Amino acid sequence: MTESVPMNLSLSLCFRRFNYLLLCMVIIGCPGEGPAFRQHWNQDDLRILQSLHLSNLPPVTDPGNAYIGNDAAAELGRKLFFSPQLSQKGDTSCAHCHQPKHYFTSGKAVDGKRNTPTVVGSAAFSWQFWDGRADSLWSQALFPLEDPTEHALSRLEVVHIVLDNFQDDYKEAFGATEKLTNFLNEKASLPRQASPVNSAENWELLTDGQRSQINQIYASIGKALAAYQARLMPAESRFDKYVEAVVKKDYGSAHQLLSPAEEAGLRLFISDRGRCIRCHSGPLFSNGGFTATAAPGSLHDEGRLAIIEQLPNNEFNCLSRYADEGEGSCDELVYLKTAGEELRHAFKVPTLRNISLTAPYMHNGAFNELSEVMDYYNRSPRNSLNHTELEPLYLFPFQLKQLEQFLLSLESGIAPSSVWELAHNQEKVE
Ligand code: HEC
Ligand code: HEC
Repeated sequence: MTESVPMNLSLSLCFRRFNYLLLCMVIIGCPGEGPAFRQHWNQDDLRILQSLHLSNLPPVTDPGNAYIGNDAAAELGRKLFFSPQLSQKGDTSCAHCHQPKHYFTSGKAVDGKRNTPTVVGSAAFSWQFWDGRADSLWSQALFPLEDPTEHALSRLEVVHIVLDNFQDDYKEAFGATEKLTNFLNEKASLPRQASPVNSAENWELLTDGQRSQINQIYASIGKALAAYQARLMPAESRFDKYVEAVVKKDYGSAHQLLSPAEEAGLRLFISDRGRCIRCHSGPLFSNGGFTATAAPGSLHDEGRLAIIEQLPNNEFNCLSRYADEGEGSCDELVYLKTAGEELRHAFKVPTLRNISLTAPYMHNGAFNELSEVMDYYNRSPRNSLNHTELEPLYLFPFQLKQLEQFLLSLESGIAPSSVWELAHNQEKVE
């Protein structure tokens, strides 16, 4: 301290440094200054930590899809997922956008209108797509097949292609049903119309019975794709092992698993300072709900509100005759809230597991880096409609870094117990 610094200023500087040091010790411990100081978790915190552990993931079920746990259906689904034959130009499979090397995302900001979410863990969610316009994994799969910007097929053509190329696999999974036999007998006389553009005309030419046969087989194809995707679940991460150690009070192991900065980030994540847990809760770090967070560039996209009225009319929804177990298991659809301002610009809360592998981020790929996402949460800017459920956090830059570091501890890849991992790792998909 030099003499030219007035006493009161030097004292205040001293205090500020002292405060900073205290803050630093409480929040991250002090790197390079001996063993870091780590706060213990109280009982409430421990309950939250346990609720985030991967073991809370319930076994996958879907009353509408009796084949979700069927190995033969999953094997057919795997083949279809990776098959470019299943597209008009022979160049687009599901894996074209959901690439194993990017944790089943595309690595691009958007494909078509939106960012490609991962399919890993998707079987655990009630609603599929950023706006939740499909109410099951099997009915979700039927959208891209008929989408002119994706596989660009008509459903009749999909059924033709699958039975021409994968008939044995299909029969093994779903049996030689009456509908299948009827379809195969009539197949040669049914119009082949690859493009969905003119397919409406062809569809009109068919009898009700033929349409129902085709829809039944088409729905089964969705069920096979869902059975495959339902086997793609995240593996245990460092975070999960940390929770196990903390619960056992084995702090030695816990402190090896998460660094002081990662632990501080976790504390922010679950505390009132960060408030992430409000939406990113449960074993996949998502409550499965829809909220408006006003990501930049999203004003033109109404999100959940734009599709909500169509949901009850989707011909392959939970109440449809093609769902294996209809009414009674469709409460979420029956009691659906179909109006309300909170649906405007609302998007599905995405999983944060393996978030380090799935950039760019948000439904429109607005951010390339996790640091940008953290900065956006800190500011929580309003869009011109003043509609967001976020509040600014006023965190320091080092705290945003801690949050980001914590998120990286969720990286784990796909569960090794899954026999399917080996198979899809071998697929060469560009
Ligand atoms: C051209 C790229 C592309 C192709 C091909 C494609 N998808 Fe997607 N997928 C996307 C995009 C983009 C979204 C998000 C769209 C939205 O929310 O509006 C999505 C969403 C999904 C979701 C919802 C995940 C979630 O968390 O909500 C699943 C499951 C899925 N796709 C599976 C499939 C399957 C199965 C196929 C093949 C039949 C397929 N996709 C083909 C790009 C693609
Ligand atoms: C009010 C609910 C809510 C809160 C609170 C919240 N999030 Fe989110 N989060 C969302 C929604 C919804 C999205 C997707 C928004 C979109 O696509 O426009 C999202 C997206 C993300 C993404 C990008 C994921 C991806 O795959 O694109 C990250 C990372 C993230 N949140 C982390 C956090 C962190 C860290 C916090 C706490 C600081 C937090 N979130 C708080 C609802 C929330």
